[in-house]
Amino acid sequence: MFARLNTVAFQGVDVITIDVQVQISSGLPGFTIVGLPDKAVGESRERVRSAFHAMGLSLPYRRIIINLAPADVQKEGSHYDLPIALGLLAVMGVLPSDILSEYVVVGELSLDSRLAPISGVLPTALHAASLNKGIICPRACGGEAAWAGEINVLAAENLLALINHFKGIQVLSPPVPQIEEESVQKSLDLRDVKGQETAKRALEVTAAGGHNLLMLGPPGAGKSMLASRLPGILPPLSPAEALEVTMIHSLAGQLNEGKLLRIRPFRDPHHSASMPALVGGGASSSAGRNFACP
Ligand SMILES: Nc1ncnc2c1ncn2[C@@H]1O[C@H](COP(=O)(O)OP(=O)(O)O)[C@@H](O)[C@H]1O
Ligand SMILES: [Mg+2]
Repeated sequence: MFARLNTVAFQGVDVITIDVQVQISSGLPGFTIVGLPDKAVGESRERVRSAFHAMGLSLPYRRIIINLAPADVQKEGSHYDLPIALGLLAVMGVLPSDILSEYVVVGELSLDSRLAPISGVLPTALHAASLNKGIICPRACGGEAAWAGEINVLAAENLLALINHFKGIQVLSPPVPQIEEESVQKSLDLRDVKGQETAKRALEVTAAGGHNLLMLGPPGAGKSMLASRLPGILPPLSPAEALEVTMIHSLAGQLNEGKLLRIRPFRDPHHSASMPALVGGGASSSAGRNFACP
């Protein structure tokens, strides 16, 4: 018995398609995940088993093999729980596997079969749109996935809600795209700066013309204060820019309830920060991980 469905892996800001293949066969009973899974993906076995148990289902007492292809790409993160669980449900005959193949599936499972939010749902949804597929994700990420345009988004609270949807018992309603409203008020105001008229004028010229600006001055002169107020006088992000900024925040897991960001990000690295501290490094460097958002 065999089923396959699609999920994704992240490489920086790039998204690649991962084929989840599930096979249940005769042989020594066991549950194995292959295809370079990291610790979090390997542990997904226990979450899936417990989530099934919470729904009153038990895994067949047979040989279960999950292959995450391509086998030579490192699989990281907890979003493989849901595709593995849905693949198993398809092999067990609970869900129709032909419908599942029309979706890209991401989501983390709790032990009680609830779906926990994950990072990177917006890039995944855009990737799904480019493949002409829909997306299945946790409910908390639905607003984020809805930004990908005219794609079929199934955002479920738990595994049972998804099963009910596919069986036609209770159909999930499509999520509404959400915009981060608060961030506009959170931005700092240039009127807090006393005096410094020349510097303020320079800041305005920079904002109007889209120029770079280098500030020189003794510590405490107000350089950081002025710089942090630049996003406040810049025009709001264009839709394409907003999507790009939100995508990076999404990958770094810093989106607030999947709402699209409208304010320009401001980064304030310490002046003694090294190059690797600024841009990341090592085997698994990834977008936006090195700074918390202000
Ligand atoms: N022109 C100013 N108006 C109001 N507060 C100021 C001004 N210049 C400096 N400050 C105060 O001094 C603090 C330190 O300034 P900061 O921007 O960190 O200096 P710098 O980055 O040039 O070392 C600011 O947080 C602010 O409270
Ligand atoms: Mg400073």
